[in-house]
Amino acid sequence: MDPISINLDLPIDSYSINISHGWQHLESAIKSYVGNKVMLVTDENVKELFVHDITSIISSMGCEVSLAVVPPGEASKSLKIAEALYTQALNAMLDRSSSIVALGGGVVGDLAGFVASTYMRGINFLQIPTTLLAQVDSSVGGKVAVNHPLAKNIIGSFYQPKSVYININTLDSLPQRQFSTGMAELIKYGFIWDKDFLGWLENNIDRLIKKEKNALAYAIDRCCRIKAEIVGQDEKEKGLRAILNFGHTIGHGLESISSYCLYTHGEAVALGMVYESLIALQKGLVDQSLVDLLINLLKAANLPTKITEIDVESLIQAMAHDKKNKSGSIVFILPIEYGKVDIFNDVEEELIYNVFQ
Ligand SMILES: NC(=O)c1ccc[n+]([C@@H]2O[C@H](COP(=O)([O-])OP(=O)(O)OC[C@H]3O[C@@H](n4cnc5c(N)ncnc54)[C@H](O)[C@@H]3O)[C@@H](O)[C@H]2O)c1
Ligand SMILES: [Zn+2]
Repeated sequence: MDPISINLDLPIDSYSINISHGWQHLESAIKSYVGNKVMLVTDENVKELFVHDITSIISSMGCEVSLAVVPPGEASKSLKIAEALYTQALNAMLDRSSSIVALGGGVVGDLAGFVASTYMRGINFLQIPTTLLAQVDSSVGGKVAVNHPLAKNIIGSFYQPKSVYININTLDSLPQRQFSTGMAELIKYGFIWDKDFLGWLENNIDRLIKKEKNALAYAIDRCCRIKAEIVGQDEKEKGLRAILNFGHTIGHGLESISSYCLYTHGEAVALGMVYESLIALQKGLVDQSLVDLLINLLKAANLPTKITEIDVESLIQAMAHDKKNKSGSIVFILPIEYGKVDIFNDVEEELIYNVFQ
């Protein structure tokens, strides 16, 4: 397969998202940006799988590579681990013409991007995402952050990568649960933006679940194009970009009240999309067939679609703390037709209670 290249157009610092089956096009995707020295940031799992290949490709470009390996998992998105990376960058004598390459899932991407955005006031940053979630979502768009013990993703910035390189073959080793978590975000794009893609998903979801390469390439391409279009129009989330949070108001609330250990991010977003669609249904914005389609796609992707026991009051409290809320009201992204959502800040609490009955 020839590599697919998608342009993310921004007023400054536009960049390309490259999708390929293998590493053969990596050099050309990153060579203009790596500089003299590279700090390759990854986690312990991903290190075993891909670091050997990546290190030899980057070294063969005449670049000095220093490897920084963090423990896998959300806990690595911390200021403490970021500080350890600054120390390693200083010890490796990275300067303003050096770069940081993130190789891994969203945790590594967000963390390495945050360090790249602050080390020496910002050095070049490149993304090589290896989870489905990172390939369709977190590696594109420039949101980088670490967590504070009191709040997730609260210390961060917008800092775009210079290039994104997606090797679809890396998904071969991804555990099923992590694959499904990415599927939640992938399905989300159909509902927020693209009726045709929804139709395609209906007919091809089984091919995706089987990780059929051509189907994956098509869907990842479609998702990255949608995200590039949205971010290109609204890089700093002044308006439109908020639609990417469909499923996330309730999803983040669920993650928060279960202390981030019951659901993966995608599982929480899947449930969030279902219950937010039920709110839309109650408001008369959509009909039952849209909710059914959503539930069928999520089920096919082995994602949860129903919560049996929940403390709705705690959920509402957790949602009220979301950093995206404006002046006290909880912001919801609700479907209004197939492939289209809108932003609402006037959802009555009663409706939220009703859908969890
Ligand atoms: N920046 C954004 O716009 C954005 C968007 C969505 C999510 N996020 C962030 O992304 C993070 C979640 O990312 P994630 O779901 O990728 O989780 P993750 O980075 O924790 O990766 C999941 C697990 O898969 C392993 N792994 C990664 N690639 C693998 C591969 N190819 N084969 C086998 N195992 C592999 C990892 O070691 C890890 O154990 C969260 O912190 C979330 O806040 C950021
Ligand atoms: Zn998400």
